[in-house]
Amino acid sequence: MIEVSIFGAAGLTGRELLTWLRHHPSARPVFLTSDQHAGRSVAQVFPELSEYNNLHFSRHEDTPPTGSLVFLATPNQTSMDLAPALLERGHKVIDLSGAFRIPEQPLFERFYGIEHTCFSLVSEAVYGMPELFREQIRNAQFISNPGCYPTGSIIPLHFLKEAGGRIRQVIVDAKSGVSGAGGRTEDAGFAFQNVYENFRAYKVLKHQHTPEIQIYGADGPRFQSPDEAKNTPILVFTPHLLPIYRGILSTIFVEWEESPSSDPATSLKGRSTSEPFVRYLESPEAVELKKTQHTNFVDFSARSMGHITMIVSAIDNLVKGAAGQAIQNMNLMEGLPETEGLLARTEVMAH
Ligand SMILES: NC(=O)c1ccc[n+]([C@@H]2O[C@H](COP(=O)([O-])OP(=O)(O)OC[C@H]3O[C@@H](n4cnc5c(N)ncnc54)[C@H](OP(=O)(O)O)[C@@H]3O)[C@@H](O)[C@H]2O)c1
Repeated sequence: MIEVSIFGAAGLTGRELLTWLRHHPSARPVFLTSDQHAGRSVAQVFPELSEYNNLHFSRHEDTPPTGSLVFLATPNQTSMDLAPALLERGHKVIDLSGAFRIPEQPLFERFYGIEHTCFSLVSEAVYGMPELFREQIRNAQFISNPGCYPTGSIIPLHFLKEAGGRIRQVIVDAKSGVSGAGGRTEDAGFAFQNVYENFRAYKVLKHQHTPEIQIYGADGPRFQSPDEAKNTPILVFTPHLLPIYRGILSTIFVEWEESPSSDPATSLKGRSTSEPFVRYLESPEAVELKKTQHTNFVDFSARSMGHITMIVSAIDNLVKGAAGQAIQNMNLMEGLPETEGLLARTEVMAH
């Protein structure tokens, strides 16, 4: 049995990890942190997780048991503070924050608005998207788990790149429920009374997931401003806030400089069949949040007209966009079946 520790276990993604780990036959949580709930049992804080009535929250400064695999479900700065010492102590670490995803320091600092305090570790982190880096993940000690918006966009865009052709431009128009947009934020813009019966864009042209989508979905590790773009594609990403709790639906517009020789939809469908958590649906209109909520699947479908391909994708930001993908990575790192503990749909958690 693999023993796991979770820093930030009472946050949205930490709670989602706990929800999924209840069903996992080969892993169990042994150490959890939350300053605000320190000393209380999980079952006291989250009544729906009554299985964990003997597991108590520790403080963030406490030390996880030797040998446990550690999930960091923490803010970016906290992950930078914690990861170096945990890796030094020999823990396998899966970081859910964005702290180790961007391989260029100025780009990270520009989009995240904070200084990187341990940038040398970025090159040790494997980007934890099994559809792109499965073999590297199997041998990794340190995983940087992908962001939620990037997960829904990068997987279809990466498969599309494999189909050939040359892309001129990618426009990602994505809509998220509040859990993907703000965590347990105090920001009034994400409060129920301001989100309910409302719909708006946010962080236009400055969202921190932009370079991640550009790097892994569009064109490698070079971020461009529109006027720098020549033969390489540019990416425009606009996130929107939906008046729902979980799920991200992305409408991805791809303009071809040179179309691939075969139909993009046929290539995407063929490439998806070998992936356990990717489902290619019969039409873009068939892709919807309800089919992916509380599951580890990414659904998508595409249609082309002339030099344009439109892809619509959907994920649950807390599962394939965070905790589920992190457990998928844990399974690979520990030599377990990749789908172990992840095929059931968990709807027990109200929110
Ligand atoms: N929400 C999503 O859909 C999503 C998806 C992918 C990735 N992520 C990333 O995953 C991370 C967690 O996101 P979230 O939505 O779960 O955030 P959240 O709900 O705000 O929870 C953050 C957690 O971090 C803990 N924390 C704060 N300071 C800490 C410290 N110094 N040491 C250890 N833990 C500390 C908090 O502990 P207390 O309980 O004491 O307050 C809280 O439980 C973020 O980096 C986020 O960007 C989120």
